[in-house]
Amino acid sequence: MEENNSNVITLIMAAGKGTRMKSNKSKLVHKIYDKELVKRVVELAEKIGSSEIITVVGYLKEQVEAVLGDRVKYAYQEELLGTGHAVIQAEKYLKGKKGKVVILYGDVPIIRPETLKNLISKSISQKECATVLTAIYNNPTGYGRIVRDEGGSIKAIVEERDADPLQKEIKEINSGIYCFDIEELLLALKEIKPNNSQGEYYLTDVIKIMNEKGLKTGAVIVDDNTEILGVNNRAQLELLTKVLRMRINSTHMNNGVTIEDANTTYIHDEVIIGKDTIIHPNTTIKGDVVIGENCEIGPNAYIREGSRIADNVKIGNFVEIKNTKIDSGTKVPHFIYLGDCEVGKNTNIGCGTITCNYDGINKNKTLIGDNAFVGSNVNLVAPVKIGNNVKIAAGSTITEDVPDDALAIARQRQLNKVPK
Ligand code: UD1
Ligand code: CA
Repeated sequence: MEENNSNVITLIMAAGKGTRMKSNKSKLVHKIYDKELVKRVVELAEKIGSSEIITVVGYLKEQVEAVLGDRVKYAYQEELLGTGHAVIQAEKYLKGKKGKVVILYGDVPIIRPETLKNLISKSISQKECATVLTAIYNNPTGYGRIVRDEGGSIKAIVEERDADPLQKEIKEINSGIYCFDIEELLLALKEIKPNNSQGEYYLTDVIKIMNEKGLKTGAVIVDDNTEILGVNNRAQLELLTKVLRMRINSTHMNNGVTIEDANTTYIHDEVIIGKDTIIHPNTTIKGDVVIGENCEIGPNAYIREGSRIADNVKIGNFVEIKNTKIDSGTKVPHFIYLGDCEVGKNTNIGCGTITCNYDGINKNKTLIGDNAFVGSNVNLVAPVKIGNNVKIAAGSTITEDVPDDALAIARQRQLNKVPK
């Protein structure tokens, strides 16, 4: 392989206004599963091994910069004069570089990394100066159309507004995602002119320019059209969340996890779940969570960041678990909150038990041993340590450590006042 083939720079377009979101915030900092759209795209760029990531920012750039920090380099587009103009703003980062540049969008966040890797490797192996990611749409209205010659080679991309009636019939559309040869792209960009219906500098025009120079261009048709969906309004934000949810849930099911109702199961990207675990409906699992094999989770469970659940654990209904380790065989069956807690093996946590982990200033830890039995409606006021084989009487408010094998009772005795 030639030396210049190994270098891939990714350029992310993030200058747009996103007015249809009806938001005070930049569209790009809206979130899917707790993660900003633009951050998802940066992570995608990282996953494909980009040597540099350049983000073209403009409208509300401070908000985008606050999310991305120094993970990327920034180019600034003051006026939105078109997608080609946006790329030209990043010229100083591309000049003198060899290799490929991949164009992505801050609001097109759920492309699979494999799809981009495939785009790049086709571009390299076929020696194409431009490789376009395209899709076949039954209703292509609004998108740029892919114009091919009789041999099937791509000749140009024509925008809807500039297309003639015959071109409007074309069902192959431009996703807007490309892999370009860096040097040829910069040369072609020098030739684009805003002589189109919108008076914009179209990035798409470089395809025709390259073809006229006799350079090779090509395309990869995406298998799964949902990957190239973008977010322009709140309904699309919901749609993409749903697509991602179904994709993640399918992956877990393919790996041997039972999900009773994928429509109401919300498992964020980073979560790991062992096989034969069963997830009941209305369960949310988010953040960096690891769940072992053969567990039972839900219904109506909420498992949050930093939690580690071993094998054969039961987490039941209306249970919230945050930053908590639970060892194997333990049961956390109903109406329980465990935060900043560690629970040993084969322990039973009674209904209504809560860790009082926050004292208003600090988050404090609760440690619970093996084979413990925590009765119903117990308050565990952290920091506190409960030993092995401990029993805690129902309704207790535990403020002091309980040694191994003890029975702890921490509540008022009952008084029956019988009327005379
Ligand atoms: C573009 C493509 C079209 C493709 C479609 C896919 C062009 C000329 N057309 O059309 O072929 O089918 O995407 O969605 O490229 N942006 C900037 N600065 C600008 C202009 C745009 O950063 O000056 C960003 C926008 O924020 C947006 C993206 O680029 O995220 C696409 O721009 P837009 O003008 O909406 O292009 P489309 O008309 O959708
Ligand atoms: Ca658009």
